[in-house]
Amino acid sequence: MANVIVIGAQWGDEGKGKITDLLSRSADVVVRSQGGVNAGHTIVVQGQTFKLHLIPSGILYPDTECIIGSGTVIDPKVLLEELAQLHRLEVSTDKLFISQTAHVTMPYHRLLDKASEEKRGKYKLGTTGRGIGPTYADKSERTGIRVLDLMNRDHLHEKLEWTINYKNGILEKLYNLEPLDPQAVIKEYLDYAEQLRPHVVDSSLKIYESIKKRKNILFEGAQGTLLDLDHGTYPYVTSSNPIAGGACVGSGVGPTVIDRVIGVAKAYTTRVGEGPFPTELKGEVGQLLGDRGAEFGTTTGRARRCGWFDAVIGRYAVRINGLDCLAITKLDVLDELKEIKVCVAYELDGQPCHHFPSNASEFARCRPIYEAFPGWQTSTSHCRTLEDLPKRALNYLKFLAELMDTPIAIVSLGASRDQTIIVEDPIHGPKRALLDANGEPVSSTNN
Ligand code: GDP
Ligand code: IMO
Ligand code: MG
Repeated sequence: MANVIVIGAQWGDEGKGKITDLLSRSADVVVRSQGGVNAGHTIVVQGQTFKLHLIPSGILYPDTECIIGSGTVIDPKVLLEELAQLHRLEVSTDKLFISQTAHVTMPYHRLLDKASEEKRGKYKLGTTGRGIGPTYADKSERTGIRVLDLMNRDHLHEKLEWTINYKNGILEKLYNLEPLDPQAVIKEYLDYAEQLRPHVVDSSLKIYESIKKRKNILFEGAQGTLLDLDHGTYPYVTSSNPIAGGACVGSGVGPTVIDRVIGVAKAYTTRVGEGPFPTELKGEVGQLLGDRGAEFGTTTGRARRCGWFDAVIGRYAVRINGLDCLAITKLDVLDELKEIKVCVAYELDGQPCHHFPSNASEFARCRPIYEAFPGWQTSTSHCRTLEDLPKRALNYLKFLAELMDTPIAIVSLGASRDQTIIVEDPIHGPKRALLDANGEPVSSTNN
């Protein structure tokens, strides 16, 4: 048995949804610990596409419990839409549980997120506009509304009448916006509360009971390491902690229950929103990666910025998350390229720099130092074992494992569940991986 954290090792959208769905076949419980409906996780099963924002990516397995933990922020309206989408597709949501201590994204959070972005002008952060920053700000300021507040009519009236009047002052005076009608908002949210009530639980206790029964628990990350509020590219980050440590805080489990941490990284890099991106490709190759990788945001539809794989960031993700192994996704997107580059280090003010600089202005001045490889220029999307891969593709993976001094456990070659090479099952398998720490491939015959 193993309890496993899956995190994004780059700027989000690494394919965490696909990897979590894949690993969920061996999980009893899947937990989302942080973030809100800024996340967009895509799962493709037998040609059918599921887009999830808050519901854990284990939901397609009828016997798997899915828990939205206390460190998340919940937009009830979007969550109910997501539930309706799953019901239309005949997916059962009976085993979905929502933490009563998670904070709730309210209409004023969405309005304030968009209004403050507009006011920032050229200093905007490029948020998803889903009210995430303002919801977490209220949580820190201790004026937030929690799921348990929604469940108590009198309590909600009392809290929201005061809060909405306070927020209306900001909406009207600072942003020149129409005020919200407190009674209309209360009515709307009480209605949401009744629909969600059957799912609401003490999530930390529920997870603890599963731990006691030695169940397999999968913690599904949202966003990515470089979007972490404390360790990412501040201020161009989200307002929660997507790193591995955040999974413990956000689900209410101690670090001693975690057996393994898997970092998901694309075979190249993408970023949505503003902020520095050393390996960004603005020309033809960036366009090709965007087209072949269908790099448009699952949540906002915005085009993702594309660039070469950045091993400085990869090493940083290994350090910050204590990664045991990697899942490399979207290798197939590189199939047509004549030449593939990898950033092995930066040049900072004329000096080589091998470590991710925690000083934001230094990071903005970093220029990539590349190593180039000949591309394999043949399709990999049908490959199911290491032996099926073209030698140059295998060498590319080997190089990444060496650069990050971390084994690769999973390689993804397409959006579908089956377009995957799993050499080691990180839940059941021994601590052995596709490529060892020296980058040497190991046999894949025991899948
Ligand atoms: P997440 O936020 O980390 O779950 O990632 P997203 O779902 O936002 O974005 C990843 C996108 O890539 C989705 O459209 C996936 O269906 C797709 N995808 C995942 N793995 C692969 C892969 O190996 N190859 C290709 N071509 N697409 C993939
Ligand atoms: P998943 O889970 C990619 C980015 C936004 C913006 C910054 C702050 O699908 O990987 P926010 O709305 O959170 O205040 O925006 O964070 N961002 C993501 N980028 N994937 C995500 O989630 C993201 N969630 C937030 O684009 O740059
Ligand atoms: Mg996404």
